[in-house]
Amino acid sequence: MNSTIYNFTNNWFEITGRGPWDSLIPQINPTRILEIGSYEGASTCYLIEKLATSKEIELHCIDTWEGGEEHKSADVNMSDVETRFHHNTKIAMNKAKKNVQLVPHKEFSDVALSKLITKGKEGYFDFIYIDGSHQAPDVLFDALLSFKLLKKNGVIAFDDYLWQEQLPQEKLPYGTDPIRCPKIAIDAFTNIYCRKLRIISIPLHQLYVQKISD
Ligand SMILES: C[S@@+](CC[C@H](N)C(=O)[O-])C[C@H]1O[C@@H](n2cnc3c(N)ncnc32)[C@H](O)[C@@H]1O
Repeated sequence: MNSTIYNFTNNWFEITGRGPWDSLIPQINPTRILEIGSYEGASTCYLIEKLATSKEIELHCIDTWEGGEEHKSADVNMSDVETRFHHNTKIAMNKAKKNVQLVPHKEFSDVALSKLITKGKEGYFDFIYIDGSHQAPDVLFDALLSFKLLKKNGVIAFDDYLWQEQLPQEKLPYGTDPIRCPKIAIDAFTNIYCRKLRIISIPLHQLYVQKISD
């Protein structure tokens, strides 16, 4: 791998993250950041490039680098993915003007988040990005533990709110399973914590629904 050129094999972050983050991240201007789900480091590198120009940042990245449920059928070599994460973040850190304290946590998010709590990091982070497992029970757990780790006025961003795994028709009549999607967990979290949260209106202020049957 060329040591000065990023190596990304997908454009997930370009599709969902970059647009809203271009306006959101400068407003939050976080210093202590926690990312759940880093993959090849596309979102990680964005944060380093955007923030470590003017100040030092601390960036914790939680990932098993084993892939989520949705990667299992896609035949992805996760060891190569992990190598690309280190390659890409090294390039971003070399380009950064200020020091980046990058702390990878190679384990399941429930374990890593619990450890951060027991190490006294409650109320520590300015910005937490949840983009790990897309299974509703995992997303709910990530949200609850992240809330503990977030400081007052800090922001949690959930990726893939409307992501749906397409399952074969023979498995499910409608092709999707709400428990294998983040939305039901994010809705439960934001409803139950409604007195402790303000929803920030970034592009989701309209919702379109299409009737598909009577
Ligand atoms: C969608 S990718 C992250 C994409 C990344 N944020 C980006 O911008 O390119 C999801 C990642 O979450 C990790 N993951 C899935 N379930 C996890 C879990 N329970 N704990 C920790 N990491 C998990 C996978 O290994 C995968 O690398």
